[in-house]
This record gives sequence, C-alpha cells and structure tokens, in this order.
Amino acid sequence: MSTATSTPLTARRAWLALGAHYDAIRDVHLRELFAADPERGTRMTAEGASLFLDYSKHRATPETLSLLADLARECGLSERTKAMFSGEKINVTENRAVLHVALRAARGTTISVDGVNVVPLVHEVLDRMRAFTTAVRDGAWKGFTGRQIRNVVNIGIGGSDLGPAMAHRALAHYSKRDLTVRFVSNVDGTDFAEATRDLDPAETLCIVSSKTFTTIETMTNAARAREWLVGALGDERAVSRHFVAVSTNESAVRKFGIDPANMFGFWDWVGGRYSMDSAIGLSTMLAIGADNFDAMLGGLRAMDEHFRDTPFERNLPVIMGMLGIWYADFFGAQSAAVLPYDQYLARFPSYLQQLIMESNGKSVTLGGDRVRYATSPVIWGEPGTNGQHSFHQLLHQGTSLIPVDFIAFTKRLNPSAAQHDLLIANMLAQAAALAFGKTAAEVRAEGTAEALVAHRVFEGNRPSSVILGDKLTPATLGALIALYEHLVFTQGVVWGIDSFDQWGVELGKTLANRIAADLTPGADTTPLHDSSTNALISRYRAGRAQ
Ligand code: F6P
Repeated sequence: MSTATSTPLTARRAWLALGAHYDAIRDVHLRELFAADPERGTRMTAEGASLFLDYSKHRATPETLSLLADLARECGLSERTKAMFSGEKINVTENRAVLHVALRAARGTTISVDGVNVVPLVHEVLDRMRAFTTAVRDGAWKGFTGRQIRNVVNIGIGGSDLGPAMAHRALAHYSKRDLTVRFVSNVDGTDFAEATRDLDPAETLCIVSSKTFTTIETMTNAARAREWLVGALGDERAVSRHFVAVSTNESAVRKFGIDPANMFGFWDWVGGRYSMDSAIGLSTMLAIGADNFDAMLGGLRAMDEHFRDTPFERNLPVIMGMLGIWYADFFGAQSAAVLPYDQYLARFPSYLQQLIMESNGKSVTLGGDRVRYATSPVIWGEPGTNGQHSFHQLLHQGTSLIPVDFIAFTKRLNPSAAQHDLLIANMLAQAAALAFGKTAAEVRAEGTAEALVAHRVFEGNRPSSVILGDKLTPATLGALIALYEHLVFTQGVVWGIDSFDQWGVELGKTLANRIAADLTPGADTTPLHDSSTNALISRYRAGRAQ
C-alpha cells in the first residue's frame, strides 16, 4: 500500500482543515450563501458526458469544494483511478482487478489483466450477444416446437437482476414492445409463479444470470423454470432452445444442462453490481437491440473518460462523491435520497441501493482496521412527483439532514409538453423549497394565525444536487450509471475501504442453509440455534403442518 493511503483519514491535513471549516460554516444558511454571491447558481455547476450538474444548493462554499478536492488528492484518488483503469488488483480482499471500465472500452483499446488484453475478449462476447439477440428479435431463433420467442425471463438476483431490471424499465421507450421481458429474483416461489403465469413456455426464453452460478435463489428458480418448461414441452431437449446462461462459471453451467455454446461469459474482474453492461445485460440487449446497447456503452465510456481526465474541481463523480463525504462525515447525515423526476427511472434508486450500499457499507479499512468515521449513508428514493405526497414532508420538516439528488431531463419522451413542464416545475420547486424554506416572518406576512406559525415554517438549508440530461436515451442512462459507479469509487478511496467485496452477505447465507435443513419435511431434530430462532422454527413447523 502506498504512503498516500497509510495516514489515517482523520489525521490528514485536509480532513482537519475540513473539520475547522465545518465549524465555521455549519450554521450558514443557503439563503446567505446565495445572497452573498449572485452568480452562485451558474458558477457552482459542472458538465460531463452530456450531463449537467447544479451543486449550488449545497452547504458548501468554493473553499469547501477546494478542501474536498485537497482531501481527494491527499487520499491518492488520481493514483487509485489510474490503478483501477490499468487493471491493478485493487479489490485486495479478493485479489481481483476491478475493470468494469473495460466492458465499455472501444475496440482496439488495450487493458491488461495478468498480461492479457481483456478488451478483445469483451468484444468477442458483445459480438456473440449481438448475433444471438438479433436472431431472437428477428424470429430466426426458434423455440423447441418451432414457435418464435415472444417472452424473455431473466432469472438472477442482486447485480444479476437489479441492473437489467432497472435498464429494462429505464429504456422501455427504445424497446421492442412485442417482446415481453420479465425478471425473477426472489426465492419466494411467488416471484416465478407471477412472472410466468400468463407466458407460453413454447415462446419463452429463460436467461439464467449468475456470476457464480451457485447462488441459491437463482439456482432454485432456474430449476423451477426448467421443470415448468420441460413439463410443458415434454422433452428435456427443449432446454437447449429455451435456456441460455450468463456466467463466469462454465462447469456449473454445463452441470445445470446448458450447452456452453448457449453461454455468454464474463470475468472475475467484473463485480456483480458493476455488471449491467456485461453479458448480464443480455436481457437489455434483447429488449432494446444491439445498436442501442452500443449507444449505452458509449455513454458509460464518455463518463469514464470524463472521470479519468477531468480535474477534480470540474469532475462530476468527484464533486458528488466528495459532497457525500462532507455530509456523511461532517454533518452526520445518515441517509441520502435519489429522486428521479422521470417515471422511466422508477427502479434507479433500487439499483443504486446495491451499487452504493453493497460497495461502501463497510466498517474496516483495506488494512483491516476499524474505521473511525461514517462510511456509506442509507440510499433510498422514489420517482417524483409521487414522493412529494409521501415522504417529502420529512425531507422538508423532519429532524434529519438528508441530501437529495434530483435527476431530470429537459426533453420528454411522451405526451404532453404541459405535463413535462409541470413535472420539471415540481422538481425545481422542491429543490428551491428545501434550500430556502420559508421564514416565520414570511409565514406571518401571509396572515397565518400565530399558533400555526411554527408548523408552517420551513427552515430550509437542506441540500440537493440537480442532475439534468437532455433526454433519457441509452447513452444518457449509461452516463448516469457510470457517474454513480465512479462516485462510489471516489468515496471508497477516501474512506480507505474495499468497495468491491461484499463479505457482509456471507453470514446470512450460511445460516439460511443451516436453518433450511431444519425446515425440510421430516427434520424433527431439536434445532440447535439461539432460543429465539429455535422457537420460531418450532412455531413455523407446527403452523406448516396444520
Ligand atoms: O449475495 C450478494 C451477491 O454476491 C451480489 O454481490 C451479487 O450481485 C449477487 O449476490 C448475485 O450473485 P451471482 O450473480 O453470482 O448469482
């Protein structure tokens, strides 16, 4: 590890300077900051990869931003970025490179892992995906009984579900509307049953998506899908026309009964939550076509280049990532909201929950020491304007400070212009209301009864970013995804944690396997867990038996 990462974060010069700066600025209101600088609303903005960021409504001054950039520099962000882009094994606990950027590298680029240029491998898979998805979309790929494929069921969980499910919804405008695409993730049998109840197996293609091909939920649902399909078509050989696999584990795919010729591979240097643009995106490509998928890769690449090549002071992921650190570690913010003002992005917050919280929900440093500062906040959100009639009350008048990312597009994809104007007006109104609020004097001036004044005051000073794109396209979606991927990376570097492992999911998996054994019919042994778990198992067994 370089000396850049060996000084404890809280002992760094920039961190200490930020602490002193926080004491000076903590009570300054955004109303004062805007009054002091009439240019603030245009000055505190940045652009990259076709996305525009307004960060003027943050409790930050140019000095804050410059100290945050200093902190990023002191923590070696440039060096770590170079290391990531050049295939170094920066996922230290799993001894792996972290190369989702190679998934969208242009043909002809060289990025090597262990001396092997991985870019040609990426394009070989992309070419196979293009040929396959074109054949399915054109009807050339037939089901076992000779019928055309009209339905696709992606079976996967976590990164093998959330990215594709989010992208399917986000890019519905560009999708082949007569191809039904469904997603099954939950081990709850209801998920598969409801996703397939109106589908004809003879016209259905199942994509079993799993990096490891060992995940219990996915393997259980895949087995169920095979029963459903073979049961209906009456022949095991149907599997070869109705099942494809996306995985890094060829032997497990073969063991499941899927011919490796129908497998689309990826690599251990692609983390599950960073894999939506790998072969894990097969359902996305089936829905939107290979050219649109290429355009999405172009958007991801544009943001990669912006992140890699732009000075921190104008770098979108760095600005947003460092502001996240400012709130989490200095203001004590424990959650952050992402509020897309675009119905197509309804699943974007869920996707970001895994991307951000599975990456940066850590409490030990790369070296294994307990961190002495907060790491990732809880990420949540819903599309506007729905949230306004539900949880925005808490954003405006609750006791917690919750920074918000608003996301919107200037052009609409559906009628009508007036509705789009109203949508955007609402977003701008929310951002302004959060920032500037309404004083007691303003409330009184409206003639409000004195007993209600306190209730009707909006203290304001609640920070937000506005991310504005021109239009939701495959390319802008790609840029948005990479923006958050690199934001996560930026924060992980500063916090000195491994953003690319996920050991915290293991204990529950192990315990579930043990408990599942106690729940199998006929298992009558006394369970050997804690008294609460034992009692619940007994109650469940008894209830199930009735
Ligand atoms: O359990 C967490 C996790 O490992 C995620 O990181 C991953 O995205 C998900 O499970 C699914 O894993 P796989 O693609 O190997 O089935």
